[in-house]
Amino acid sequence: MKPDVLVLAASPSADVMAQLAQHFHCHHLWQQPREQQAEWLAGVAPQVRGVLTTGAIGIKADLLAQLPKVEIVAVNGIGTDAVDLAATRARGVAVTNTPGVLTDDVADLALTLLLAAARRLPALDTFVRDGSWEAGKPIKPTRTLRGKVCGIYGFGRIGQAIGERAQAFGMTLQYFQPRAIDGTPVPRAESLLALAESSDYLVVAAPGGAATHLTINAAVLAALGQQGTLVNIARGSLVDEDALIAALADGTLGMAALDVFADEPNVPAALRELDNVVLTPHIGSLTVETRHAMGQLVVDNLRAHFDGKPLLTPVK
Ligand code: 8YV
Repeated sequence: MKPDVLVLAASPSADVMAQLAQHFHCHHLWQQPREQQAEWLAGVAPQVRGVLTTGAIGIKADLLAQLPKVEIVAVNGIGTDAVDLAATRARGVAVTNTPGVLTDDVADLALTLLLAAARRLPALDTFVRDGSWEAGKPIKPTRTLRGKVCGIYGFGRIGQAIGERAQAFGMTLQYFQPRAIDGTPVPRAESLLALAESSDYLVVAAPGGAATHLTINAAVLAALGQQGTLVNIARGSLVDEDALIAALADGTLGMAALDVFADEPNVPAALRELDNVVLTPHIGSLTVETRHAMGQLVVDNLRAHFDGKPLLTPVK
């Protein structure tokens, strides 16, 4: 008999969805109308042995508590901050994620956002579309990236891949995270505040969770300063969004380019109305190739678990 798997969100890869259907008895919560989900879930919960979720959705203790037979939670993403790891550990539920396969695309998006902010791409796109160019309106020059300092908060796999790309644009690197990285020539700032003070661009690539919650606060944003730009491809939870809006609105901070937000998909109107921000809807890993690779890893982890084999990418 195929193991019962609760699927909280679909993969855009048809091949991954076909493999899920082939190997598991899938229960697709995402296909249920929102108002019927609780009742539908109550019907399937007793059989569920595996859960497929995303980095953003994760799984909370109350859903886990509804699943008496759950053995594994496979996250289709790298972040596990939305997974109640205390609850999974207490229950002996295995957790897997998708490290490695999304590094390049997420790092690419960080640089895309950085460049879009630096060269004011959205505003200048509008400038062409709305006839401002034809009307002869003046265009202010932007600043080159050459020689500017790119500070990277969180210097793991993704942070380092961002660094390589920023360097290719002639930027100087530095990073901060509590634990120093051995063997990197990139200097580590002594604190996040010090990193912000000496950076032109502060790129957030640290994991979400209690240790980083709201660490990008008003003081950090002020330290980054009027000419500074915040880029966030990590988690909205790291940033004090009210402080960010205030800093952008009064010019304490120059610009922000954001792929992630505190309460997705709700982006505060005050943020949307600002013209010194570039906004994308949490799409760092959303390429055909990467979403396929992530989904494949999810399928492979689930299959390994139910075949009694070692997990490919367990979360310790
Ligand atoms: C995805 C992410 O949005 O990997 C993560 O942690 O946040 C993203 O890659 C998400 O997990 C979609 O599956």
